[in-house]
Amino acid sequence: MIGEKRALKYRINWKDARQAILKERIGGPGLRFDPDIKTKSAAEFSKRIKEGEYEYGRKAAAIFSGFLNPSAHVLEIGPGPGTVTVPLSKKVGAITCIDLSLRNIAHLEKNLQEASCDNVDVIHKNWLRTDDVELKDGYDLVFCSHFLWMIPDLEEHLEKMENASRKYCAIVQPAGRGGLVKEVYARITGNEYAGEFEPDGDYFAYVVLREWGRLLNVSHFSFTNTMTLEEKVHSTASFVGRFVEVDEGVAARIRELVLPHAGEDGTFVETNDVVVMWWEVA
Ligand SMILES: C[S@@+](CC[C@H](N)C(=O)[O-])C[C@H]1O[C@@H](n2cnc3c(N)ncnc32)[C@H](O)[C@@H]1O
Repeated sequence: MIGEKRALKYRINWKDARQAILKERIGGPGLRFDPDIKTKSAAEFSKRIKEGEYEYGRKAAAIFSGFLNPSAHVLEIGPGPGTVTVPLSKKVGAITCIDLSLRNIAHLEKNLQEASCDNVDVIHKNWLRTDDVELKDGYDLVFCSHFLWMIPDLEEHLEKMENASRKYCAIVQPAGRGGLVKEVYARITGNEYAGEFEPDGDYFAYVVLREWGRLLNVSHFSFTNTMTLEEKVHSTASFVGRFVEVDEGVAARIRELVLPHAGEDGTFVETNDVVVMWWEVA
């Protein structure tokens, strides 16, 4: 249900900053060291959320439970392997998910089955191509998690979310980054780290929604991630690869730089913050 937007005499120019960040994230030289990196990273991410017993999703679902009715019908945009979907499905009536990646949907369906989640409907579609007339006011909650950088036009995304909701919308977004990736970036590029990897999607959404006059409830939680050496190399390469081509030599250098930071059992444990914003649309 789309509410009125307020008129403002002065506005913050957030669009240029967001555009510049998007360009850096999308147009980078990339990862050449492993042609299967995308398939491997999706599998590693799915494995990691399960090994962490869906801590991120459980904490997000606990916040949603504070305002949602247990029979609520939820629309999730970009569920990935089910980071939030799996734990949330135990707390609501039904979830409809829309994701455009068949690779991620395969992990999602496997994880839903393993966790006996039988109230989740998965739709393979580009969210930006969904029909607003068909979706209008269809759900009690419309939310996305770790998604804001996936779409070029933030306002279009937020308008579509509000259109599909008859009650609430929510955004869950990572809000912290460990120091190691920044250190590796500096060592490999020879540039001082200047904020290239700050997980800052949430504050653009906050500005837009406040411009529209929405009153946001903001909270946060932290969660812990554990990675193997190869997972750490892949994850670090995905950041560094925005600025330098990661070929086999660069990947080996990343491995060498991260290795001394492994724990006694050879894993990398990192605790990060996550912001949750939710608002009533009606
Ligand atoms: C970074 S993952 C986040 C996964 C999960 N929500 C989480 O919090 O871990 C983003 C997901 O959004 C999906 N996605 C990206 N653009 C999309 C679009 N336009 N329509 C539907 N899904 C999209 C991707 O395929 C991916 O599964």
